[in-house]
Amino acid sequence: MTRPIAQHPHAVKTVVVPAAGLGTRFLPATKTVPKELLPVVDTPGIELIADEAAALGASRLAVITAPGKAGVLAHFDAAPELEEVLEARGKTEQLDKVRHSSRIIEACPVTQDKPLGLGHAVGLAESVLDEDEDVVAVMLPDDLVLPVGVMEEMARVRREFGGSVLCAVCVPDDEVSNYGVFDVAEVDGREDVRRVVGMVEKPAREDAPSNLVATGRYLLDRDIFDALHRITPGKGGELQLTDAIELLISEGHPVHVVVHRGHRHDLGNPGGYIRACVDFGLSHPTYGPGLRRAIDQILAEHDAAAAGAADRAGD
Ligand code: UTP
Repeated sequence: MTRPIAQHPHAVKTVVVPAAGLGTRFLPATKTVPKELLPVVDTPGIELIADEAAALGASRLAVITAPGKAGVLAHFDAAPELEEVLEARGKTEQLDKVRHSSRIIEACPVTQDKPLGLGHAVGLAESVLDEDEDVVAVMLPDDLVLPVGVMEEMARVRREFGGSVLCAVCVPDDEVSNYGVFDVAEVDGREDVRRVVGMVEKPAREDAPSNLVATGRYLLDRDIFDALHRITPGKGGELQLTDAIELLISEGHPVHVVVHRGHRHDLGNPGGYIRACVDFGLSHPTYGPGLRRAIDQILAEHDAAAAGAADRAGD
């Protein structure tokens, strides 16, 4: 039983979380462990996303999962036996941690039988949205956008301009070719909002229309479902969400981006994941101080080893 949309502060009742990808960049870990369950310090990425969705005021998480990734949904179930043991041992802090995910939001499963692309995964969420939901809110569990709160800003921009609103971050020239890049126009008097006139997927550096790249936060008009039905599969036979957004733009549908000035961690590849763990680890009250000392020591050892190698090469 869901509450009417008017009772959700930012008019977002359901957040769609596509989590059915193969996670090939994380093999061999993802042979058996879904990448969405890999912990940042001690909390799986999918739980960080659930927290962000709950803070936005959403009451439901539509998790798109693959048949072999049941553990992702299981993370939102109660664990009565474990809870009983922790309770009996008086481990209240751990008990709270175990219960948290099953209490903050209702997770509902949507199965994507085959990894046919992000666009295909988002399209499957149509079956779970209520009639009063006119926005398709999507958060990719691969992306941590910090500080949390950009979706609230995107909802304000959507109230102002209508249509769809995405999130962009500014990256250096040598990184643009890893991402979907926005072609944008200024919006009078607005530093942090741009109108999107086009999108290019992973362009060569010299062809990139800007340094503003897509991050995994989307507030899409419900028309996106219709656009997803009308596009054809692209590279690797996958339905691309960006192709559907492009189609909407070409038909005059307003699309804006909020330019996020904070941080972004890309948990979808080992390099970005390690950085996120270090960042969260350093801020952690228990582990932070020790981690800082360990990093200093490791750096000193690496520097000494590199200096030794350079000396030997010079001999
Ligand atoms: P990615 O392309 O980053 O994830 O998709 P992936 O396919 O799992 O990763 P690699 O490239 O093989 O390492 C972005 C998000 O979309 C989901 C993924 O789970 C991820 O959260 N996704 C992708 C789906 O849900 N279904 C798909 O068919 C593809």
